[in-house]
Amino acid sequence: MAFDHLHEERLLILDFGSQYTQLIARRVRESHVYCEIHPFNISLDAVKAFQPRGIILSGGPSSVYDSGAPISDPKIFTLQVPVLGICYGMQLMARQLDGSVEKAERREYGPAAIDLDNPSLLFQDIEKEGVRVWMSHGDRILELPPDFILLAHSDNSPVAAMGDPRRDLYAVQFHPEVAHTPCGKDILENFLFRICRCKPSWTMRSFVDSSIQALREGIGEDQVICALSGGVDSSVVAVLLHKAIGSRLHCIFVNNGLLRKGEAESVHRVFRDHFDLNLIVVNASEVFLERLKGVVDPEQKRRIIGNLFIELFEKEASRIPNARYLAQGTLYPDVIESVSFKGPSATIKTHHNVGGLPERMQLKLIEPLRELFKDEVRLVGRELGLPERIIMRHPFPGPGLAIRLLGEVRRESLEILREADAVILEEMEASGWSDHVWQAFAVLLPVRSVGVMGDERTYDQVVALRAVESVDAMTADWARLPYELLQRISNRIINEVKGVNRVVYDISSKPPSTIEWE
Ligand code: XMP
Repeated sequence: MAFDHLHEERLLILDFGSQYTQLIARRVRESHVYCEIHPFNISLDAVKAFQPRGIILSGGPSSVYDSGAPISDPKIFTLQVPVLGICYGMQLMARQLDGSVEKAERREYGPAAIDLDNPSLLFQDIEKEGVRVWMSHGDRILELPPDFILLAHSDNSPVAAMGDPRRDLYAVQFHPEVAHTPCGKDILENFLFRICRCKPSWTMRSFVDSSIQALREGIGEDQVICALSGGVDSSVVAVLLHKAIGSRLHCIFVNNGLLRKGEAESVHRVFRDHFDLNLIVVNASEVFLERLKGVVDPEQKRRIIGNLFIELFEKEASRIPNARYLAQGTLYPDVIESVSFKGPSATIKTHHNVGGLPERMQLKLIEPLRELFKDEVRLVGRELGLPERIIMRHPFPGPGLAIRLLGEVRRESLEILREADAVILEEMEASGWSDHVWQAFAVLLPVRSVGVMGDERTYDQVVALRAVESVDAMTADWARLPYELLQRISNRIINEVKGVNRVVYDISSKPPSTIEWE
C-alpha cells in the first residue's frame, strides 16, 4: 500500500555520497519543507516526475576528474528549477556548465572565513565579511561558468560561492548544513524561501493529519497487526494507527523477560490503560530463559531470542481473524540506505526484526514512518500525546539484557543487572544527563572481585557502566559524565544491589570497541 503523501512543496536532494547528505535533508525539513534524498544518477524523467520546487546537489568524496566520478544528468540545469550545489555538487555544476575546476594545492578542511563579493538572494541578510563557514574539499573552482557571478571568496578558495541569478543556479564550496557554519540555516532558508519560493508547510501536525487520512482510506475495513516493543518507533506507529482505525489495530507485545525494570508494566499502563489500545501481551519470560539455558555465545543468544520472538509473535498473530496488514516502524534512514550508491556496511552484529514473517503470513507491510527521520518521529510522538519518557527513550536492543549480561542468562543475574541498570537510569534522568547521551546502561561482568563491607569480606560481581555519545550508533565516544554523578551511581549500586561490590566505567570508544559488550 502506498502511503506517499502529496507534498506540493518538495525539494529533491541528489546524493553524491557525502557523509552530510542526510544532514542537508534534516536541515531542509527543520525549515518545514519536505524533501527526499535520491541517488545522483536517477533519470531526468524521474526528476521531472518528482516535480521538485528546487534541487540540492550534495557533497561527495570524489573529484569531478576521477574516472567513475558520480555524474548526474546535465539537463537538470535546464529544467527551470532552482539548483544549489554544495561542495562536490558545486564542482560538478561548474564542470557541467563549462567552468573549470582544479585540484587545490592543499586540501582545505575545517573552519574558514568568507567575504561576499556581489549581492545575491542566497546571501541576503548575511554579514558581508568574515562569515564563518566549514570547508572540506580538495578541488576548487578556477573559472566561473559563463553567466555566473562570483558571490564570495575565502583565502584558499577564490570562488567560495557563485550563482547565475537569471537561471536560479547557485553553488557554495562550504557546507551550510553543518553546525560549524553558524549562518548555514539562513543560507539554506534563503535558497528555500527566496529562491525556490517554497512555503514552510511541512509540519508534524500536517504529517499526522494526512497520515491518519491516508491510513484510513488505504486500510478500509481490514485488520492490522503491530509488534509493539515500547520503543519510540513502534509506539508512534501504534498510536498513529490507533487514531486512524481504532480497535481494528491489534498490538502484540512479547515480554521476553529480558526487559529493563518496570518496562513491561509501563507498556501495559501506557498503551492499554491510557491509550485504550487493543493490546495482546505474551508473557514468555520462562520460555526464553528455558531456551537460553547453557548458552554463552552472544550471536547464538541473539539467534535464539530472535527466532523465539518470531515464533511467538506469529502464533499470536495467526489468531487474529482477517488480518491483512503488518505495521512496522521503518524510518527514512533505512529507506535511503537501500537506494544509496554506497556499498552496504558490514554487519558486525545481527539485529533481529520480524524478517520473513509478512511473506509467510501473507501480510502486506504498512510503514507509516518511512518518510521520517528519528527527530521527526519524536515530534510526531509529542503531537500524538505520548509520554515524554517514551519519546526520549534511548535505543534498547531487541535481545535486551541478555547481551548485557556476559555469559549464561540466569534468573539471578538478570535480577542483579536489572536493579543496577535501574539505578543508572534513575540517576541519569535526575541529573539531566539522560538527554545528552545516546545510551546509558549497566553491564554485568562474569567476574568476582574481593571487597569489604562493614567488617566483612565480600566476593561479588562487577558492574560496568556504559554511557556513550553518538549520532547514529555507527561511531560513539564515552560520555564525559561528571565525577559526582559517577560517584553517586557507584555508591548506590554497591549499597543497594545485592551481589555487586565493584563498579567500573567503560572508557572505550567505538570503533574499535562496540557500544554493547556482546
Ligand atoms: P553496537 O554494540 O553494535 O550497537 O555498537 C550499535 C547499536 O545497536 C544496538 N544493538 C542492537 N539492537 N538488536 C537490536 O535491536 C541487537 O542485537 C543489537 N545489538 C546492538 C545497540 O544498543 C546500539 O544502539
